[in-house]
Amino acid sequence: MEMARIGSTPAGGVSRLALSDEDRAARELLRSWWEAAGLRTTVDELGNMFGLRPGLDSDAEPVLVGSHLDSQPTGGRFDGALGVLAALEVVESLDAAGVATPHPIEVVNWTNEEGSRFPPAMACSGAFAGAFDVDYALELEDASGRTLAEELTRIGYRGARPVGGRGIRASLELHIEQGPILESASKTIGVVTGVQGARWYNVRIEGEATHAGPVPMSRRRDPVRGAARVLDRLYEAVRDYDDDAHLAVGEIGTHPASRNTVPAHVDFTVDLRHPEDDALTVLDASLRSLVTRVTDEMALVGDVRQIWHSPTVRFAPECIGAVRAASGALGYSQMDVFSGAGHDSVYLQRICPAGMIFVPCAGGVSHAESESITPEDAEAGANVLLHATVQLAGGEP
Ligand code: GLV
Ligand code: MN
Ligand code: MN
Repeated sequence: MEMARIGSTPAGGVSRLALSDEDRAARELLRSWWEAAGLRTTVDELGNMFGLRPGLDSDAEPVLVGSHLDSQPTGGRFDGALGVLAALEVVESLDAAGVATPHPIEVVNWTNEEGSRFPPAMACSGAFAGAFDVDYALELEDASGRTLAEELTRIGYRGARPVGGRGIRASLELHIEQGPILESASKTIGVVTGVQGARWYNVRIEGEATHAGPVPMSRRRDPVRGAARVLDRLYEAVRDYDDDAHLAVGEIGTHPASRNTVPAHVDFTVDLRHPEDDALTVLDASLRSLVTRVTDEMALVGDVRQIWHSPTVRFAPECIGAVRAASGALGYSQMDVFSGAGHDSVYLQRICPAGMIFVPCAGGVSHAESESITPEDAEAGANVLLHATVQLAGGEP
């Protein structure tokens, strides 16, 4: 709740966009808590923050435990923050109990997980895992043209540590489910077996700018009509594909944005997701052919640019097993779940065994100010995180 005060919104959520002043304040608070807990804090060139609790074997690879503190523009208090703060709770609990682990434990706060300000999502954990070049991440731009590098420097979080390139024993992340399955099934713990694939696009429909009044409708090349037709048909295609196909159009803009001008062009974003990569390939083709067909029909020009593809990920059996065992030993009700949302763990799975734990959120709602969880579920998730972390760090669960 103290962390949620940073960037708090009147409706009870948080607005803590990556590398904003609010993100800086959240990082400073986290760093103060980490240092009070005796963790050695380092920051890499992309602002990813690490807090080291040494292991018994100083040469052993660390277990990474954490999530992200950045939020959606009108986000909730728990998406990301729960996992970062539970990781701190894990090391504090181990200290209080006098438990040492053979492998070090490194708590982590990943930069720009949301990708809301600097698309795409998870780019900095992606660079850590070698999926992207560091320069690619540094050059990402927000809507006003400011780069991730500039904003890292501005808030004082362009660290010295090289990004990734080191061995990681395993990675664990506690997160709210962000969907309704656990709540509907009355289960406390979601054992996350994988994450569905996602493709992000920037789409532009170009027409011709003209006055809103004098030009006959039949003579206009109005890109808004084209965008409306593409989107209506795309929603139908996704609905007809199957129940696992997901579409969101989170940003739409006309240019110029003036009520008495037919715009020159319309830009919108497309977020397509599906648990099967082959299905995403089909949906990708549907989007492209729809844009071509509709713009041909209407004498417009279409452009579809895919800016991100995060293929479906299946987590490591070792981590899934550690989560299942911890939840079972602690007596929590549990079920396997497949994540609908993206997470930094997606990229971690490329370089080490990775796994996730979900706890329910009210109504399955997230990326909204109304996001809420119960203290009991948060505690259960943190307990599972604790025991699974100890197991992966080579200790006695
Ligand atoms: C991150 O929240 C994503 O799933 O886009
Ligand atoms: Mn998240
Ligand atoms: Mn999120």
